[in-house]
Amino acid sequence: MKIAIGCDHGGLEHKNAIAEHLRSRGFEVEDFGIYEQVSVDYPDIAVKVCESIASKKNELGILVCGTGIGMSLAANKFKGIRAAVCSEHFSAKYTRLHNNSNVLCLGGRVVGIGTALELVDLFVDTEFEGGRHQKRIDKITEIENR
Ligand code: RB5
Repeated sequence: MKIAIGCDHGGLEHKNAIAEHLRSRGFEVEDFGIYEQVSVDYPDIAVKVCESIASKKNELGILVCGTGIGMSLAANKFKGIRAAVCSEHFSAKYTRLHNNSNVLCLGGRVVGIGTALELVDLFVDTEFEGGRHQKRIDKITEIENR
């Protein structure tokens, strides 16, 4: 599975740890930066990660900013992107199972790196359940297309 990853200055350490962790697990990771501790605007990074998912270059995305919220707001403007901010395990699992989320947003100032890695593992290891949940996703897509 190919995973796109990116962060702003609120999530650099987390992003680097997540990239290293996923690569050590055998995933192919495309890192859209940032690569050093500079102040950037989180939508600019969200665009790069989400475009790579919308174009099917990557399957899932992980975005880290201070809270995860700004990244999720930007990411959810993209057609076909379902981004979820998670800071605990249940949501990280169920947003894949029920929402078929394709982008996980994390707050570098909210969760520690250890928790972040566990949330990432749950997210990438859980598959969409389909069934009754598909028609709900279809309704989200219908809203996008209005
Ligand atoms: C940047 O200081 C901060 O606003 C950003 O990382 C993020 O938390 C926005 O939602």
